[in-house]
Amino acid sequence: MGGRGVETGDRTAAVRTRLLGPDDWRELRAVRLEALRESPWAFGSTYARESAFTEADWRRRLSAGGATFLAYRDDDPATAVGISGGFFEESTPDTAELVSMWVRPEARGSGVADALVRAVLDWAVARGAARVHLWVTATNERARRFYERLGFVPTDERQPLPSDPTLDEIGMVRPLS
Ligand SMILES: CC(C)(COP(=O)(O)OP(=O)(O)OC[C@H]1O[C@@H](n2cnc3c(N)ncnc32)[C@H](O)[C@@H]1OP(=O)(O)O)[C@@H](O)C(=O)NCCC(=O)NCCS
Repeated sequence: MGGRGVETGDRTAAVRTRLLGPDDWRELRAVRLEALRESPWAFGSTYARESAFTEADWRRRLSAGGATFLAYRDDDPATAVGISGGFFEESTPDTAELVSMWVRPEARGSGVADALVRAVLDWAVARGAARVHLWVTATNERARRFYERLGFVPTDERQPLPSDPTLDEIGMVRPLS
């Protein structure tokens, strides 16, 4: 569903991102659970919580009005190497929220993450968003540097990470034009 190619320039082999529909719930489950297991400190949710989700829960996530993208490299088109998502809060319809960002460790530094963010930015622009906002764990230096390279700037927002309140997460925002 909604497949489209995204070329990400010099940093990468060609990367394709795919917008998932409800029938893709098994693929979403596999990648999302792997992300939660591999990088638990990066996410507000937990493996324990989402591994208990039913098919209906996953399908709901894919039909709730947001967007979920998986990324594939042309040199291994059957294997999803990363995930991103976007949604709008009803109270802030001009601001898209970027969530769920994760790239398999072996695919990091290759431009896959750029393509995944680009997919959400394009999706948000098409829906009239003025900006994209995200939360990132304060100690997640790699992600913070990555987002800064893509034009996100830290806000003054800071809150405990829901999955581990001993950590803080900070807000970052990027205007869309
Ligand atoms: C966050 C993530 C999606 C970024 O994708 P990526 O492919 O690793 O990103 P890139 O390699 O393109 O960019 C990372 C940047 O951080 C730098 N970096 C790498 N390790 C670093 C470290 N330990 N400390 C600081 N910067 C670091 C890289 O040099 C690069 O900077 P540059 O573009 O100026 O060279 C990926 O690392 C990931 O999935 N991490 C685990 C999950 C996660 O943190 N998700 C974010 C949730 S908000």
